[in-house]
Amino acid sequence: MAQESIYGEHLPRMEALRDRLIEGINEIRKREKAVRGEDPVEHCLSRIKGEESMREKCRRKGIPETTESALTEIRDGIGIRVVCAFLKDVFYLRDEIKKLPGFAVVEEKDYIRYAKKNGYRSYHMIARFDDQYYVEFQLRTISMDVWAALEHQIKYKKNLAGNLDLISSELKRCADELASTDLSMQTIRDMLWEE
Ligand code: GTP
Ligand code: MG
Repeated sequence: MAQESIYGEHLPRMEALRDRLIEGINEIRKREKAVRGEDPVEHCLSRIKGEESMREKCRRKGIPETTESALTEIRDGIGIRVVCAFLKDVFYLRDEIKKLPGFAVVEEKDYIRYAKKNGYRSYHMIARFDDQYYVEFQLRTISMDVWAALEHQIKYKKNLAGNLDLISSELKRCADELASTDLSMQTIRDMLWEE
């Protein structure tokens, strides 16, 4: 017999919440596009953490593989990633997402202002909706997204060879260069929009 989903009966409601949030974000994009003729979001992804990956995270955290754990202890069962071309739009989206119906902020981590030691940048928010489900939002620029994707690939590469310290410091240097490019791109965009 197939193992019961760790989300129990909750999966359809989690999917509905995910769809509602994506719809809400699409509304923000549409509205902004009408105002300034430009979509503030480059792309947006969502996922519900897969069965095996949720169970693995429970084990890693030393908590039981139960629906209770998957819904309340682990707070990124539902994940939404919003990628913007420009830095200011990341913060614009953050502010607008906070206004979505049912949104209650639980935790915010500003890894843009305070980048992680390895160079990782993104704005993270965990919110709870309707007193029930947690959602993790990750907001970032295209540059931050590219860096995170490459770093993720490298991190999970088996049998890494080479000078690992050098690789880490080079990755960090790339992250910092990308961050400085993001600032320059924002400045260029602001110049284009000057009246
Ligand atoms: P978890 O216990 O995994 O939830 O960690 P945490 O609560 O410390 O979460 P944090 O907000 O730091 O990170 C959550 C998510 O952000 C991760 O699952 C990744 O998707 C992403 N992330 C965080 N740090 C890094 C990083 O250094 N590199 C990459 N590529 N992604 C990261
Ligand atoms: Mg987390």
